[in-house]
Amino acid sequence: MSGTETAPTRVAIVTGASRGIGKAIALRLAREGRHVVLVARSAAPLNDLKSQIEASGGKASALAVDIGDGKAWAAAIEQVADEHKRLDILVNNAGITRDNLVLRMSDEEWADVINVNLTSAFVGIRAAARPMMRGKFGRIVNIASTSGLVGNAGQANYAAAKSALLGLSKTIARELGGKGITCNVVAPGYIETDMTANLPQEIKDKLLGMLAVKRLGIADDIAAAVSYVTSDEAAYLTGQTICVDGGMTMC
Ligand code: NAI
Repeated sequence: MSGTETAPTRVAIVTGASRGIGKAIALRLAREGRHVVLVARSAAPLNDLKSQIEASGGKASALAVDIGDGKAWAAAIEQVADEHKRLDILVNNAGITRDNLVLRMSDEEWADVINVNLTSAFVGIRAAARPMMRGKFGRIVNIASTSGLVGNAGQANYAAAKSALLGLSKTIARELGGKGITCNVVAPGYIETDMTANLPQEIKDKLLGMLAVKRLGIADDIAAAVSYVTSDEAAYLTGQTICVDGGMTMC
C-alpha cells in the first residue's frame, strides 16, 4: 500500500443482529469502522439499528433473510460480496432454542434447531469462502454456547448443534488457514438477552453460584471477544473456542 492509500473498510455480516448478542456485536464492529451488514428475519428492527449506526457516523446496511432457508441465505451473501466487491468478516450468531427433554423432543424441534444453529453456519461459510479467498483475508466466527461443551438437560438439539460448530470451525480453520482466513468459536455462558429472559429466578440464582465472576453476562461481553477475533491482528488465532462465561466452565 502506498503512503496515500487508506486501509479498505472491512465488510462484516452479522446474523441475528436485530437484538441481543448480535446487536451488540454489530454496534461494536460498526464503532470500530467496519461496514456492518445486519441480518435477521424481519426488516424493521434492522432498519432502526442501521439508522442508529449511521447517526453515530458508522456504516451499515440491513438485509432481512431467513438463514434457515439455505438458498436465500447463500444468495444474500453473494449479493453482499457483489455489491461491496469484498467480504471480510462473517459472524454466524443467529440461533434459536426449542427445549424439551429427549423423550419428548419432536423431530421438528430437533430439525429446526439443527437447521438454524448449525446448517446455516455451514451454508454461510461455504458462500463466504470464495469472496474471502479472493480478498486473501477472512475472519469467521461461529457463536456456540457452553451448552455445546458441557451439555444441558432439555437441550439435546441445541447442545448437539453448538457442539458441532466446534468441529466445523476447526475443519474450516484447517481448510482455509493458508488463504488468510481464520475460523473460531465464541461460546457464551449465561448472557442476559431475550433468549434467556424467561428463565425462572431460582435457575438464575443457581447459575450465579457457578460463576467465578459474580455476575451474569451481558451482550457486550461477547461483542468484546468477537471484536478481537475478527480484528486484523488476530491473524494467528484460528480453530479456537473462546468461552466467555464468567468462569463457569473453564474448559
Ligand atoms: P436472541 O433470541 O435474543 O436473538 C436471536 C437473533 O437471531 C434474533 O436477531 C433473531 O431474529 C435471529 N434469528 C433467529 N432465527 C433466525 C433465522 N431463521 N433467520 C435469521 N435470523 C434469525 O438470542 P441471543 O441471546 O442474542 O443469542 C445469540 C446467539 O448466542 C445464539 O446463537 C445463541 O444460541 C447464543 N447464545 C446465547 C446465550 C445467552 O445466554 N443469551 C448463551 C449461549 C449462546
